[in-house]
Amino acid sequence: MAEPRKLHIKSYGCQMNVYDAQRMADVLAGEGFVETAQAEDADLVILNTCHIREKASEKVYSELGRLRMARDEAAKDGRRMQIAVAGCVAQAEGEEIVRRAPVVDVVVGPQSYHHLPRLLAEAERTGRALETEFPVEDKFLSLPQPSERNIRARGISAFVTVQEGCDKFCTFCVVPYTRGAEVSRPVSAIITDVERLADHGVREVTLIGQNVNAYHGDGPDGCAWTLGRLLVRLAQIPGIVRLRYSTSHPNDVDDTLIAAHRDLATLMPLVHLPVQSGSNRILAAMNRKHSADDYRRVIDRFRSASPEIAFTSDFIVGFPGETDAEFAATLALVTQIGYAGAYSFKYSPRPGTPAAEMQEMVPTAVMDERLERLQHLIDTQQAAFNRDAIGRTVDVLFERAGRKPGQIVGRTAYLQPAHVFPGDAMTPESLIGQVLPVRVDSLERYSLLGELAIASPARPLAATGA
Ligand code: SAH
Ligand code: SF4
Ligand code: F3S
Repeated sequence: MAEPRKLHIKSYGCQMNVYDAQRMADVLAGEGFVETAQAEDADLVILNTCHIREKASEKVYSELGRLRMARDEAAKDGRRMQIAVAGCVAQAEGEEIVRRAPVVDVVVGPQSYHHLPRLLAEAERTGRALETEFPVEDKFLSLPQPSERNIRARGISAFVTVQEGCDKFCTFCVVPYTRGAEVSRPVSAIITDVERLADHGVREVTLIGQNVNAYHGDGPDGCAWTLGRLLVRLAQIPGIVRLRYSTSHPNDVDDTLIAAHRDLATLMPLVHLPVQSGSNRILAAMNRKHSADDYRRVIDRFRSASPEIAFTSDFIVGFPGETDAEFAATLALVTQIGYAGAYSFKYSPRPGTPAAEMQEMVPTAVMDERLERLQHLIDTQQAAFNRDAIGRTVDVLFERAGRKPGQIVGRTAYLQPAHVFPGDAMTPESLIGQVLPVRVDSLERYSLLGELAIASPARPLAATGA
């Protein structure tokens, strides 16, 4: 048998890219590639790129500079290294990448990576291959199912893409251009994927999409199903003890999603609901199509269905023309909602987006100062949220052995890491994949430290109520 070829994928950006990287590895497994952690050893290196902010995009070119040297080294040993650029920079910049970095063999967009085997062969023959069209066919129909080995190697928590793309066209954002129009996968295909993951040990599934709650895939009854309805169905799959979804948009929160939070014990009470700004004028300039009060009302609907839901969000500071008073409105919104955490970013003008044409750039020093104030407020809220767990008994889904001998690490419903020493009676490995109650004693940075709150080590999954 031929030596397996080695593949190294480096992914940037969002969860969609993490998922896509896994699916590229699945496609290439069929071509005899096995993954390696070192780019230097690889026969094929794929950079799975992100275009969302300038910094993210520019990283690609510095990484390609490093890879050029690694490739030259490999060539000295008589080894050929192929280099591919995938993801959203590939989609947005296409030929520009090859022009700036001739070392690249293949450029492939996020909707075309199922064609990687053909593109690699083409590059082998002709020196270069590029595909950034949005193909008419559905890439999911061509993607192979991951092998049992790959599923198990990826752990007990998995992402499943249920919809892709975005039709919202926020004025600052490249996603509608890099990922294309909003498309939902059929319900039956998602059920098949989740059942297969569950059969091979996955216990937690996060449904992902750029606008996951815009989901409207074809159901087996011929109707378009909402995300809420899909969650109800997936909650019936044996072995799946936790469901999550990300990222949702405030304008697409319907009553079925709210009801799913009320009715499903497996649906985790943590909702990532980006708002970007607390100022109505800025929200309008961003084309968000919701006001700060609309957002507050959506939060209230979630909270009245299930008071324990915690929220996270994304914020942009320094959108063109943002005044001190408008920034203060963002701080006021954050203070009022009270978040379990949030990401905040300085506005970065992206080529081709309407906001990039807007005048009145906010000076960098002002952006820096606003970012620091917002992050400080969010950090304070996050720390208070984490401190609140101390003294409580919380359910933890155990994921892996910890760094210290005898330690095991899992996550709470709110994705807080929890570290436990189960003691001599149990090996950490025997707890992986189980949801067990943990009494939280203390906090170490972002992690909860505690003890298992069970009498018998062999307590079955169902007994925890998870
Ligand atoms: N689909 C999600 C977010 C996708 S991008 C949503 O609609 O909320 C993730 C985050 O990156 C965004 O929520 C936004 O806060 C940030 N972002 C997007 N474009 C940006 C830009 N040009 N500059 C700074 N931050 C940006
Ligand atoms: Fe970008 Fe707005 Fe679409 Fe989110 S909703 S992906 S921010 S355009
Ligand atoms: Fe980045 Fe593309 Fe995701 S731009 S955030 S990798 S959709």
